Amino acid sequence: MTGSLVEPRLRAVAHLVPPGSAVADVGSGDGRLARWLLTRGCIVTATEKTRAQACWLADAVSGTAIEVVEGFGLRPLQSRRLDLVVMTGLGGRSIARILEDPSVAPSWSLLLQPMQDLTALSQALRRLNRGIGRACLVRSRGRLYPIVEAPLGVAWNGGPPGLLDGLGPWLRSDPLWSVWRDHALHRHAEDRGRAGSGRAPVSPNGGRQ
Ligand SMILES: C[S@@+](CC[C@H](N)C(=O)[O-])C[C@H]1O[C@@H](n2cnc3c(N)ncnc32)[C@H](O)[C@@H]1O
Repeated sequence: MTGSLVEPRLRAVAHLVPPGSAVADVGSGDGRLARWLLTRGCIVTATEKTRAQACWLADAVSGTAIEVVEGFGLRPLQSRRLDLVVMTGLGGRSIARILEDPSVAPSWSLLLQPMQDLTALSQALRRLNRGIGRACLVRSRGRLYPIVEAPLGVAWNGGPPGLLDGLGPWLRSDPLWSVWRDHALHRHAEDRGRAGSGRAPVSPNGGRQ
């Protein structure tokens, strides 16, 4: 696979993974990120939540050294020694549900790229007392996506609750911050309008909250 076939949001995530690390790509989909991580010398486990999706993923990465496992969220990783767990392309609420699954504690460093609902994700990190190591924005195919690193052993260090619920201070130094902030403020104003009309609010990237 050549780098140009991997979309920028996934390339940006891959470049934050230290080469050679043992990494699990949870909700790997077709395994694009997993294969890209392999080219960076990582030992890669890729997961999917159902048997059918895991079989499809195994076909997609057959002939590579990627290990495919089936199971919900972090459950199939429970006994594994990993440097990092990566979750990309899922909604912030789905990632939050996975992280707060009572049957398995997220005892690894995390690299997260939510598609929307950043607030739900940051609230989960706050509840889990997991702090941020770094956060940035990446432009990919006309949209902006946040990427959040939550290293193991760092306690919650985000800002106060509010717009973006504590992640604003971490994203503010990003060159794309002003574009993201204007978008987020615009959505926030729309949310308030919707709240008045009884409709569900929308997250900064457009997903229903
Ligand atoms: C939109 S795709 C993203 C695929 C890839 N990670 C990417 O960024 O392009 C989301 C994938 O996560 C999987 N998924 C959703 N919830 C999951 C869960 N709780 N545990 C494992 N996989 C899950 C879905 O089956 C789907 O393949």
